[in-house]
Amino acid sequence: MPHTKLEVNLIDSFEKIKVEIFPTPKQGSVYVAAEIARCIREKKQQWQKFVLGLATGSTPITLYAELVRLHREEGLSFKNVVTFNLDEYYPLDEDAMQSYHSFMHRHLFQHVDIDPSNIHLPNGELPKEEIKKHCQQYEQMIEGAGGIDMQILGIGNNGHIGFNEPGSSIFSKTRLVTLDNSTRIANAREFQNISQVPRLAITMGISTILKSKKIVLMAWGTKAPIIARSVEGQVTEQIPASILQQHNDCTFVVDEIAASDLTRIKSPWLTGDCEWTPQMIKRAVVNMSLKTGKPVLSLTTHDYNENGVGDLLVEKGDAYEINLQVYYMLRDSITGWPGGKPEAYIPSHPERSEIQPKRCIIFSPHPDDDIISMGGTFMRLHDQGHEVHVAYQTSGNIAVTDEFVTRFLDFAVGFEDMFGIDNHTSKEILSEA
Ligand code: F6R
Repeated sequence: MPHTKLEVNLIDSFEKIKVEIFPTPKQGSVYVAAEIARCIREKKQQWQKFVLGLATGSTPITLYAELVRLHREEGLSFKNVVTFNLDEYYPLDEDAMQSYHSFMHRHLFQHVDIDPSNIHLPNGELPKEEIKKHCQQYEQMIEGAGGIDMQILGIGNNGHIGFNEPGSSIFSKTRLVTLDNSTRIANAREFQNISQVPRLAITMGISTILKSKKIVLMAWGTKAPIIARSVEGQVTEQIPASILQQHNDCTFVVDEIAASDLTRIKSPWLTGDCEWTPQMIKRAVVNMSLKTGKPVLSLTTHDYNENGVGDLLVEKGDAYEINLQVYYMLRDSITGWPGGKPEAYIPSHPERSEIQPKRCIIFSPHPDDDIISMGGTFMRLHDQGHEVHVAYQTSGNIAVTDEFVTRFLDFAVGFEDMFGIDNHTSKEILSEA
């Protein structure tokens, strides 16, 4: 739906960087790829090179897949493209599977017609005493190519861009940096375990990035909190991506989940017109209750006006009535029959009485989150005859070290021995661990 002018201005006053929101990462990537393709073709018509700054990590994989598709199916040529990658682990062989050299070849370069001499990445193989010179040369090469026309960025959960971790200076240039522990944990998925993730990396600096003529930062899924802080918060070196507020042509391309903490999505009543559906009323009132620390039923007209929800009173009646409406919605969400009660008639929840038993799936980000956060519900679903499955979304190998596991297995074997319990299985697992 197009925004009215007033609405756009109100959004702007929260968002200090332009944000384009797409339903899925794929749609966001198609948009960015089309923009890159347009620029490549425009430069080609002028017999010029297009200088593209590139990122690695999980975020741009769909972008590279789309660029490869454009090359194969729509004849997009990369002959006039010069690339500079943001970063590379140090020390790491170019040929290592986890190197950003390998990543780029695997996802993009080997599938398109780019001239290999136009590809540039920091060199993670050099002896330490040569790094400083190499970094200076990298900066000079970027300048020599006429500067970066468009820089693609991802973002770390701590707000890093490239490998400029929190605290990096706005004046920083290409250099050797120490990776944050949180970054090493996040990137451990690319290695066998966290101890193999290099502690250092070579990265373009913040000032190098800011010199790019155009910047596109992409983010999907779980990045919502850091996206909101970077776009709406203060500019601070503690959140390197917030410094992008000072660039005059920077766009964040995000999916709906990564956008979900932006004020216009999270609290749209604060940015202008908002349609007061029952769900929106519930969100606004619960939000106000959390913010003021007051129970829903104690919120007053004054609270509504003070918290930017005065509109709702004008449209839907007085505070007392709205509080009650939300209270009933919350009350109705509490049930001793989480999978539904057979043959019970609940007008607001017809789906609850329909199918019995149900097949339920519990998504648990990490083994044990299911038990810790909803063990009681889990048990009830089972006791009430439903078929319950759990999908663990990680194996847990990063948080639980091998040493920790073997220590507990040792204990289990000893315990079973001591109390005459058959420890055949524990021994078998221990020998494989
Ligand atoms: C990688 C890079 C990093 C990543 C960031 C997000 O070249 O510069 O800043 O963009 O760590 O990584 P993913 O995309 O894996 O979430």
